[in-house]
Amino acid sequence: MQSRMGALEEGKESAITTSRTSQSRPFPLRQLQFFVLFLIICLGASIVSMYMVRHFGIHHVALVQSNSFKPCFEQPESIENWIRPPSNLLHTMNDTELFWRATFVPRIKSYPLKRTRKIAFMFLTKGPLPMAPLWERFFSGHEGLYSIYVHSLPSYTANYSPSSVFYGRQIPSQVAEWGMMSMCDAERRLLANALLDISNEWFILLSESCIPLQNFSIVYRYISRSWYSFMGSFDEPGPYGRGRYSEHMAPEVNLSDWRKGSQWFEISRELAVRIVEDTTYYPKFKQFCTPHGCYVDEHYFQTMLSINTPQLLANRSLTYVDWSRGGAHPATFGKDDIKEEFFKRILEEQTCLYNNQPSTLCLLFARKFAPNALDPLLEIASKVFRI
Ligand SMILES: *[C@@H]1O[C@H](CO)[C@@H](O)[C@H](O)[C@H]1NC(C)=O
Ligand SMILES: *[C@@H]1O[C@H](CO)[C@@H](O)[C@H](O)[C@H]1NC(C)=O
Ligand SMILES: *[C@@H]1O[C@H](CO)[C@@H](O)[C@H](O)[C@H]1NC(C)=O
Ligand SMILES: *[C@@H]1O[C@H](CO)[C@@H](O)[C@H](O)[C@H]1NC(C)=O
Repeated sequence: MQSRMGALEEGKESAITTSRTSQSRPFPLRQLQFFVLFLIICLGASIVSMYMVRHFGIHHVALVQSNSFKPCFEQPESIENWIRPPSNLLHTMNDTELFWRATFVPRIKSYPLKRTRKIAFMFLTKGPLPMAPLWERFFSGHEGLYSIYVHSLPSYTANYSPSSVFYGRQIPSQVAEWGMMSMCDAERRLLANALLDISNEWFILLSESCIPLQNFSIVYRYISRSWYSFMGSFDEPGPYGRGRYSEHMAPEVNLSDWRKGSQWFEISRELAVRIVEDTTYYPKFKQFCTPHGCYVDEHYFQTMLSINTPQLLANRSLTYVDWSRGGAHPATFGKDDIKEEFFKRILEEQTCLYNNQPSTLCLLFARKFAPNALDPLLEIASKVFRI
């Protein structure tokens, strides 16, 4: 027993020493021969390729070389791989590059693959999303039918847990100021990032103070079956409507084309591309619709789309806002406002046209809600919103 163990250890020991000695031995002749042979083959190959360049032209040789150097494990790419959306929302494209890329549109309209149409929920925020827990409940169980994009001030760093629907959904952002063109720039940036995913068919703009008023199934059905996009757009005669028009905008925009409407919209993919590609109206609005005479987020997309594609607009917004308290900003609702009757009243007093038919289901979202409204909202959500 003792001797066998001794023999084993001796064997181990000798194996180690051989490997050590073979490493420290001078360069063996065999390997040197292989190396020289390899050099000769390389030299031969380059002489042959130089000869072929002279006689058949460089393209032919380039083709031969690229084919022969292809690794054998590479799989041919499927159509799904070619159109797969970016897995990482962060990118280094500036707006010029991003908008150009986002406006690629297939000329053949029928898709040669199964395409589940998604709704892109685009949150335009300053920083945190206080209503996130309510939205988490709203989205739960509907994976594959929505995408989320968040544009916040660049100074804000989001901190969502990996299980959150908002995790990793932040897009490269820039400062957006109320009433300024930078606000529309941010909205176009959200649209452009969302357009990169070819499955996104509808685009909804929301803010951190927005809440859903219906469950996801209702929202998806309402939007996917609508013949029109929900962009609020109307012709208002007074100082806050036509009064904000500047004659310098003609002939691209005449007074009769001027429209006003809510900033918070839902639009189709076609209209999203039109907004991102626009270079006709953008400079006019940037120069002539500035505070405090004009607030560009209430006029630019509304007017532009009314000129380009009036037949695709429902001319109303899906987002409830209360302007009844007057002033430049709508009312904000806090925890004391959150009662069942409050929402019953909002939802029941509405009538509108849906696909040209009278309807009482007119609103899918509402604003503005203060962070302290969250807890009472979560309490009544299942009963009132069925969320
Ligand atoms: C984006 O980068 C391109 C190339 O450097 C440049 O031509 C363009 O002006 C840039 N756009 C913006 C908005 O900075
Ligand atoms: C969504 O709401 C509708 C009506 O408000 C209800 O009939 C439906 O059951 C709800 N769906 C879910 C998944 O809760
Ligand atoms: C504005 O009016 C001018 C002159 O009447 C006309 O040429 C132009 O097409 C109009 N613009 C739009 C957008 O209709
Ligand atoms: C919306 O308004 C435009 C005019 O700006 C009109 O052509 C269009 O028919 C309206 N849409 C609906 C659904 O009534």
